[in-house]
Amino acid sequence: MKATKLAEGVYWVGVIDWNLRDYHGYTLPGTTYNAYLVVGSKHVALIDSAYPGQEYQLLERIKDVIDPKKIDIIVANHVEMDHSGTLPLLTKMLPNVPIYCTEVAVKGLGKHYDTTGWNFKPVKSLDKIELGGKTLVFVEAPMLHWPDSMFTYLAEDKILFPNDAFGQHIASCERFDDELGKDVALAHAQKFFANLIVPLAPRVLKKLDEVTKLGIPIDVVAPSHGIIWRSYAADILGAYVNWSHGVAKNKVTIVYDTMHHSTDRMAQMIAEGVMSEGVAVKVCLLKDGRYEGNHRSNIVSDVLDSKAVLVGSPTLQDEVYPTVADFLSYLHGLQPGRLTHKKIGCAFGSQGGHGGAVAIITECLKKAGIETINDGFEIYYRPDSAELKKCYELGQDIARRVKAM
Ligand SMILES: [Fe+2]
Ligand SMILES: [Fe+2]
Repeated sequence: MKATKLAEGVYWVGVIDWNLRDYHGYTLPGTTYNAYLVVGSKHVALIDSAYPGQEYQLLERIKDVIDPKKIDIIVANHVEMDHSGTLPLLTKMLPNVPIYCTEVAVKGLGKHYDTTGWNFKPVKSLDKIELGGKTLVFVEAPMLHWPDSMFTYLAEDKILFPNDAFGQHIASCERFDDELGKDVALAHAQKFFANLIVPLAPRVLKKLDEVTKLGIPIDVVAPSHGIIWRSYAADILGAYVNWSHGVAKNKVTIVYDTMHHSTDRMAQMIAEGVMSEGVAVKVCLLKDGRYEGNHRSNIVSDVLDSKAVLVGSPTLQDEVYPTVADFLSYLHGLQPGRLTHKKIGCAFGSQGGHGGAVAIITECLKKAGIETINDGFEIYYRPDSAELKKCYELGQDIARRVKAM
């Protein structure tokens, strides 16, 4: 197995996990656990590792560069097991190897593994270590992605190793942004952001501001998942600023499920109304979540770049449909309405008894920070022509509001 060279003495030695299809509710075409080897004249550092059980690829790629026993420094940017899972093996193989990580990570690793005898070297922001012609500088980055997270910066080569930040879940033979293509890479990064980073957006902006003020030039961004940004580093940094602010398109996302196609008819007519105003619309039937585009983790990508979100459900046992409940719970966790640029929303649906789904959805949208334009639109049984006309007008109303935002 081969390592990939980023710069003189700097190598990607990560793991390609071709078969991963679900990562805590996120559907993905595989991923990579990126680890990096930095070979200085005095020391050899391994930055991050891989998911438990993925040691083989990691060690084989290291062997392509150097005898793994020559690693005399480990940097653990993040405790989560996809980046620390091979530490138990590495610490056995390399007794007393110093492990540089945050103080919080020392405790976190101790909750994941038996770290008795591990040689921790806790670091703070701007602490540095010299490898001999290669200087590693640490920047604490709490909550990006966990309280223990930090970034590592390789000064001489201007490479930032930000762990989860700027990553993408994709398994591919390409290692660099310009090989995969800018648009594809950014689309995967946007999905990663929409599913994992959105609730952390204020911290992203603060951290980017802090890094900018440090005045450190960044030529390459080498995250812990997906491709490495070497040609479009400025693009991904800029994209993170826009996504963190919630910059969205003139676009409406309509998400719903249906029992006997009544809520479905409403969704179609709302979409027609939106389109009649020249505004983009994405319609997602949650029942078809097994298909890529309608999976909750893809829908939230559409939500992130939409100015408006409409959610529809029939009422079932005085509740929303189970698929809609799943989506609303996911949306609530992400809080996409609490970014700088606000989102508007509205609930709709059909009921055949007491109703209630529309009221539940309206409350859930508010809890996700989305400004509801009314109390929702709930109809009884099948939508008649007057009600379908109202749906069309609702779509037009939403689209006009979107254009005015
Ligand atoms: Fe993580
Ligand atoms: Fe990760």
